[in-house]
Amino acid sequence: MEILLDTAHVETIRKYSSIYNLTGVTTNPTILAREKAEFFPLLQEIRGIIGDGQLHVQVTGNTCEEMMKEAEAVTDRLGKETYIKVPANEEGLKTMKALKSRGFLVTATAIYMPQQAMLASVAGADYVAPYFNRMNNMNVDGRQAVQDIATLFRHFGRRTKILAASFHNTYQIMEALMAGADTVTASADMFTTMVENPSVDGAIADFRRDWTDTYGDRRIYEL
Ligand code: G3P
Repeated sequence: MEILLDTAHVETIRKYSSIYNLTGVTTNPTILAREKAEFFPLLQEIRGIIGDGQLHVQVTGNTCEEMMKEAEAVTDRLGKETYIKVPANEEGLKTMKALKSRGFLVTATAIYMPQQAMLASVAGADYVAPYFNRMNNMNVDGRQAVQDIATLFRHFGRRTKILAASFHNTYQIMEALMAGADTVTASADMFTTMVENPSVDGAIADFRRDWTDTYGDRRIYEL
């Protein structure tokens, strides 16, 4: 199981990298737009924080030729280990095939239907990113979709990993993982919500009170 942070906010990446055992960071043009920063300097700063962790960067060209040139620019500036995110439409599938024949790492994105994931896998994608919440918003069962993709990949021995994305609550994250996602990418607040809540705070406060009642202000290393 792998967890990635779906943000380009530098301070958030710095903070969450120190807390969670992150596999890396995913971005897309919408996420980058929020930062109002120059494209390569921002991504280079992120690369500096995560070191050789995964960085997923989306191309935006309309044609395979444009996307190939963008992919080359991305890996030239951010390292060959950067994953090139390509939308899984026809031009995207053509691009994935071309990218893989030249040794790029590829993440197929904007996946709303299991058949996109299947075709992206056949095109050679390393990851496919089904959009869980967006599917739910379209009255499509995101859990079932991830499960179908997992079943197909297992049945046909595909090595493509499922990188489930687009989560608006932690229940969706757990559903995606239970359905067979190998990896999830989520915003920082989703991760915080998974471990911070009043019940946890209450339990910790109870333990602290019992400790203080017994040992006072001394810490374990002072006993
Ligand atoms: O990684 C894709 C993800 O960022 C899309 O999320 O919240 O825009 O549906 P959202």
